Amino acid sequence: MALNKFNSAKAGLIISIFVLFSVVSASHGRKTKPSHDSHSRIRAVNLGGWIVTEGWIKPSLFDGIPNKDFLDGTGLQFKSVTTKKYLAAELGGGTIIVAYRTTASGWETFKLWRINESTFHFRVFNNQFVGLSANGHGVKVVAEAKTPGRSETFEIVRKSGDLNRVRIKAPNGFFLQAKTEELVTADYARNGTAWGDDDPSVFVMSFSGRLEGEFQVTNGYGPQKAPQVMTEHWRTFIVEEDFKFISENGLNAVRIPVGWWIASDPNPPKPYVGGSLKVLDNAFLWAEKYGLKVIIDLHAAPDSQNGYEHSASRDGSIEWGQTDDNIHQTVAVIEFLTARYAKRPSLYAVELLNEPRAPYVTLEEVSKYYKAGYEAVRKHSSTAYVLISNRLGEIDARELFSVATGLTRAVVDVHYYNLFSDSFNNLTVQENINFIHTNRTHQLNYVTTSNGPLTFVGEWVAEWEVKDATKEDYQRFGKAQLEVYGRASFGWAYWTLKNVKKHWSLEWMIKNGYIKL
Ligand SMILES: *[C@@H]1O[C@H](CO)[C@@H](O)[C@H](O)[C@H]1NC(C)=O
Ligand SMILES: *[C@@H]1O[C@H](CO)[C@@H](O)[C@H](O)[C@H]1NC(C)=O
Ligand SMILES: *[C@@H]1O[C@H](CO)[C@@H](O)[C@H](O)[C@H]1NC(C)=O
Ligand SMILES: *[C@@H]1O[C@H](CO)[C@@H](O)[C@H](O)[C@H]1NC(C)=O
Repeated sequence: MALNKFNSAKAGLIISIFVLFSVVSASHGRKTKPSHDSHSRIRAVNLGGWIVTEGWIKPSLFDGIPNKDFLDGTGLQFKSVTTKKYLAAELGGGTIIVAYRTTASGWETFKLWRINESTFHFRVFNNQFVGLSANGHGVKVVAEAKTPGRSETFEIVRKSGDLNRVRIKAPNGFFLQAKTEELVTADYARNGTAWGDDDPSVFVMSFSGRLEGEFQVTNGYGPQKAPQVMTEHWRTFIVEEDFKFISENGLNAVRIPVGWWIASDPNPPKPYVGGSLKVLDNAFLWAEKYGLKVIIDLHAAPDSQNGYEHSASRDGSIEWGQTDDNIHQTVAVIEFLTARYAKRPSLYAVELLNEPRAPYVTLEEVSKYYKAGYEAVRKHSSTAYVLISNRLGEIDARELFSVATGLTRAVVDVHYYNLFSDSFNNLTVQENINFIHTNRTHQLNYVTTSNGPLTFVGEWVAEWEVKDATKEDYQRFGKAQLEVYGRASFGWAYWTLKNVKKHWSLEWMIKNGYIKL
């Protein structure tokens, strides 16, 4: 799923619908672009939540995790029962921990790195880890370490019967206490507690943010159980019969999100587990059997390109693109996948990276990567389309045109949701539909040009903020989107095939007559 900020199309840049159907380059009359008339346009469904976990798509996948409240990236806030104030990393990190903050927000949030069900590192706003000071007697609690070690390893002890009352045990064996509002130390010796409001080692814990992605599910189950849980999920969530269903219901392609660790299958780095490559192999077999095209979509890149769970972020931080290392590693993943599937008749397109997020990932970083990723695809395939995803955030929707210039079979992927922005909160059914016909048409026209890259609405859904909409309302909303996104020069893909939230499941929408293709 995209958490896509709406970016309004630039006023005055409304391009004639005519160009949408023009496949002739402006310069020399006969130099045609790759044929992409309405017959070959992609009508796809995403296979979300299959090879890259998203907990909201299938919450039961997390059911068996011990202490599943505490996953990697879960944000915790702690209010001292004695000072009645929140713990915070002073200045957001880099110095001491304090206990004088009256409200809780970023500096007061501690993001978990899970070691096992009871043991954790705490990451603060500026990305340091909470630990014991190396100075003095080693009891002062600070947020200074760039990487966590033994000094940064804590146990959370919950009160039975009142799980949000906790004590935090430091690696020196003592409990943390809010000695004063300015002094938090790890020197409270009493193991027993009555959990009273007079105990400075007791804190009231609240949750602020939770991620349920591939990192969380695999690290949550741990190395013994994760392989069997994931293998069972892969085997049952999407099966051959689904490919048959897709092919029989007016669709001609699947977009398959994959994670970077697939390239080191069967022995990916921890906590990821092996086997996802075999799953993708099966997808190709089934796609061939039922005549479907495959778009491989690198949804999760090392160190996360957007901080969302669908990029397998550990704790919400976005660190992809900041080193040549992770860019090279990502190019290698693309090359590995293209080499493996280049000869397969179903391989139609390779998407280099899903939804990098501005401004954390810069245009310069992503451009450099897209050029290298394109070359990696072309080493093995001259025919596969290469998809480049626009950045999320406040960007010019044409910002990748400079990258796409001179590339053949390049496609820009844009994601359109009438969600994830306050501007949709109070729209009526008709206003939502009008928004598709006017605003989305303008946006799509703006990126669909006669001499630029092809365009793909790689994610959309017939879901909105409207409460109590009728089946007919949904039908009209879906139809409007099909009509408008049907004009994207490469095609579109619904998000997603299966989901416990029924409008997000194209299978459910088709079977129940909400969407007809
Ligand atoms: C969790 O990890 C800590 C630190 O490595 C270890 O001391 C503890 O025994 C582990 N607990 C469980 C339940 O595995
Ligand atoms: C608290 O428990 C630890 C081990 O769990 C023990 O080493 C220590 O002596 C105990 N402290 C007190 C004050 O009972
Ligand atoms: C939406 O409506 C609610 C209640 O009528 C109102 O409080 C809120 O400010 C509105 N939001 C927007 C973005 O207009
Ligand atoms: C959609 O476009 C119309 C007309 O250009 C504009 O007035 C309106 O504000 C836009 N809607 C949103 C939600 O941005």
